Amino acid sequence: MELRGSDILTMDQFDREDLRRIFDTAAEMEVYASRQKMTRVLEGAVLANLFFSSSTRSRISFGSAFNRLGGAVRDTTSIDESSIAKGESLEATARVVSGYSDAIVLRYPEEDAAKMVADASPLPVINGGDGSNEHPTQGLLDIFTILKERKMSLDDLDGLVVAVGGDLKYGRAAHSIVKGLSIFRNICYKLIATDELQMPDKIVELLRNRGHQVLQTSDLSEGIKDVDIVYMTRNQEDRMPRELATHLRGKIFLDRRTYERYARPDTTIMHPLPIDIRPGAQEIKPDLYDHPNFAVYRQTDNGMPVRMSIYVHLLGVVDRVHDTVRDAFWFRPDRTDSHR
Ligand code: NCD
Repeated sequence: MELRGSDILTMDQFDREDLRRIFDTAAEMEVYASRQKMTRVLEGAVLANLFFSSSTRSRISFGSAFNRLGGAVRDTTSIDESSIAKGESLEATARVVSGYSDAIVLRYPEEDAAKMVADASPLPVINGGDGSNEHPTQGLLDIFTILKERKMSLDDLDGLVVAVGGDLKYGRAAHSIVKGLSIFRNICYKLIATDELQMPDKIVELLRNRGHQVLQTSDLSEGIKDVDIVYMTRNQEDRMPRELATHLRGKIFLDRRTYERYARPDTTIMHPLPIDIRPGAQEIKPDLYDHPNFAVYRQTDNGMPVRMSIYVHLLGVVDRVHDTVRDAFWFRPDRTDSHR
């Protein structure tokens, strides 16, 4: 697809060659994301970073990635403090913001909100999470993480065996990673969830129609056997009735004993974050946080180069990034935490 000027709404829109371009550029962005060099290629550009539901990392990651390219960022953080609380439609907000900015990131509690804004705005619109539907840039940075952690090239993803566990019904990150991997061939998915939180049939059908193997289980020790990746997610308690949330809390979790007993010693542990650390929840137990295969903080760091790559593609400056390269002089701590 032509990336310049386009919207990023779902993982379904990409093919293998799109991912290759996005990840090749992301690899080139690492030097800027890690602050060894700086570029001002988006100097003068403004991002409308419209967050209408809760977020810490995604909002800061989308904003910082734009800033690291020299662009400026304007944020919203909640519906309550926006004109939507005064009764304005999302389309009208999109139209107004389009007059002030060069790109829009939208997080919104309702499904297909990003599509609605994309239809109402001439700017590139990036879906930063629309209800339970999708979170495509999370899917992209997750696949980028798999390549880095497992030292793979894109074509090595054919035949990947991946366990995805937790809340597969309401979790948009889970939807985006499984759809994203379905671009490749012969993926084996092990979907680990209670019956209440299993992957929607529509998505399972899509995976099977694309020729992949899908196994569904509620038994985590069974599901993590012989997998390359185990991708855990938290229960989206905010999206389910309170009684169900309490009933399902802590039902499926990965701890060190189970991991060491049932998973292969090289299985990569991933999670889109946040991990729910409340007692009784903890879908990944703290005893795994210092395991060398716990890739979760490296995964979240990868959000920076991947989002930078997306911006330069969407705004058509991919060939100009290095024109403005400069040294960065400010203090940066050495990265001593090589595991995390
Ligand atoms: C996820 C989200 O908001 O969809 N977090 C994220 O953006 N990395 C997952 C979650 O909230 O559980």
